[in-house]
Amino acid sequence: MSSKDRIIIFDTTLRDGEQSPGVSLNMEEKLQIGRQLEKLGVDVLEAGFPVASPGDFEGVQRLAREIRGVQVAALARANRKDIDTAWAAVKDGENPRIHTFLATSDIHLRYKLKKSRDQVLEMAAEAVKYAAKYTGNVEFSAEDASRSDLDFVCRVFEAVIDAGATTVNFPDTVGYAVPWDFAGMIRYLVDNTPNIHKAVLSIHTHNDLGLATANVLAAVDQGARQVECTVNGIGERAGNTAMEEVVMAIRTRNDVLPYDTGISTRQIVAASRLVSLLTGMVVQPNKAIVGANAFAHESGIHQDGVLKERTTYEIIDPKDIGLSEGSLVLGKHSGRHALKIRIEELGYQLDEEELERVFSRFKVLADKKKEVYPEDLEAIVAEEILRIPDRFRLTYLHVAGGSGIRPTATVAIEIDGEEVSGVSMGAGPIDAAYKAVADLVNTGSRLLRFTVNSIRGGTDALGEVTVRLKEDGHVVTGQGADPDIITASVRAYLNALNSLEYIKSSPPRKNIND
Ligand code: KIV
Ligand code: ZN
Repeated sequence: MSSKDRIIIFDTTLRDGEQSPGVSLNMEEKLQIGRQLEKLGVDVLEAGFPVASPGDFEGVQRLAREIRGVQVAALARANRKDIDTAWAAVKDGENPRIHTFLATSDIHLRYKLKKSRDQVLEMAAEAVKYAAKYTGNVEFSAEDASRSDLDFVCRVFEAVIDAGATTVNFPDTVGYAVPWDFAGMIRYLVDNTPNIHKAVLSIHTHNDLGLATANVLAAVDQGARQVECTVNGIGERAGNTAMEEVVMAIRTRNDVLPYDTGISTRQIVAASRLVSLLTGMVVQPNKAIVGANAFAHESGIHQDGVLKERTTYEIIDPKDIGLSEGSLVLGKHSGRHALKIRIEELGYQLDEEELERVFSRFKVLADKKKEVYPEDLEAIVAEEILRIPDRFRLTYLHVAGGSGIRPTATVAIEIDGEEVSGVSMGAGPIDAAYKAVADLVNTGSRLLRFTVNSIRGGTDALGEVTVRLKEDGHVVTGQGADPDIITASVRAYLNALNSLEYIKSSPPRKNIND
C-alpha cells in the first residue's frame, strides 16, 4: 500500500464534456465511453444530468446499472425534483452519488438566482439534507465559487457538511482563476471551514485562460483531494481540466507532486481516441499527452538524441499512456479471430452479428489498403455499431471532377428504406455531393464546420471527415471515414443529418441553468 495521498479522479466527460457545443452522445456511445472510463480506473464517473431529458435519465440509469468498481454520480440542481430524479437514475449503482449544486457568487445570486446569501445558504443545506436521506454519498458544488466571497463559501461548506455532504466542490466555473490565487483560496477554505476535515475537498476548473490544469495542481498542493476533469479536456466553452494532463503531471513530477491516482495510464490513448471519435471533438495535434505531435520529434538533433537515449527529449515513455507502434496492424489476410482480438484491445465488446458487420467493412478496406491500423478499425466500429438508427443511408455515389470539368455528383440514398436519387453541380465534388444530398433530404440545416483528417499517413490512408450542422438551435456533429474522402464526406454529412433527425424526434433537453 502506498503511503502517498490518493487523488480521487472524478470524471465528468459524460456530463460537463457532453455539454461541449455540438456534442450529443447516443446511448450506445455513452456506454462505450463509460466502459472505457471503468477500464481507465476513474474513481467517480459523472454520468449526466438526469432531469434534463428522458434520454439523459436513461443514459445515467444504464451506466449506473452496468459500470462496476466506479461510483456513478448524477447531477442535480438544489431542488427536490432534480434530486429525486437524480436518485431514481443512479440508485441501482454500486456506490451511487448525488451531486447537487448552487451558485454562491454575488453575480449569480443577483442576476441569475435573484436570491440573498441567507436564502442560498438555506437552500444549499436543505438540498443536501434532502439528498442525504437517499444516500451517504452526497457532493455539493458551489457554482462560480472562485468569484464568490470566500467567507460566504466557508459558511456554505460548513452548513452543507453539517447537512450530510461528504464531498464539497470548489469550481472555477468561468475559468477565471490563476494558480497562486486559486491555491490561496483553497488554503483559506481549509483554514476557515471548521468541519472541512469531515469531507473531501474537490476542485473543478475550466480552461478559459488555458490555466485549468495549473489551477488543479496548485489546489492539490494546498489540500484538494478530488479533481474533476474530462478526457481530452472537453467541456463547456474552452473545456475542463484534461484528465490525462493531471494524471501524467502527478506521475511524471511525483518528486514535487507526491500523490497517487488509481488511473491505469496505459488506457489513456484508447480513452482519448474513443472520446474524440464519438464526440467529434478533434484533438489538436499539439495537445499535451494525447495530441498527434505529443511524441513527434521534428528536428534532427532531437531525433538523434531520442534514438541514442529516449529520455534526452522525452519526459514520458509513450508506452506508459498506451501508445504502441505498429503492433496492432492488420492486413487483408487477417481473419475474424485476429480482428476480434484487436477490437477487444481497443476497448470494444461486440457480439457475433456486430463483429460480422465490422469484418465485412474491414475486408473491403483491407483490399484497398495494405495495412489496417487501430484508428481505421475504430472508425469502422464507430460507423457500423455506435450509430443511432439511420433514417438516411447512402446507396450510390458517383462524382465527376478535374481540370476543365464542372464538378458533378450523382447521389442515391435510402430514406426510411426507399431509394431516391439526384444530380447536382458544385464548386468542387464535395460541394456538388452535399448539394445533391441536401436536395434529396430537403434539409434546412446550415454547415458550420467541415474538417478532413487523414488517419495515419500515406495516400491510401482512411480519410476521416467531421461535419457540424445547425438547425433550429440544434447543433450536431457527424463523422464518416473511407479511403475515398468524397465518400467519407457524404457519410459524415448523412451521419449529422441522421443525428438531427434523432434530436428533433427526442423530447427537448433542459440546460443546467434553466
Ligand atoms: O463548472 C461548474 O461550476 C459546474 C458545476 C455544475 C460543478 O460544472
Ligand atoms: Zn463545469
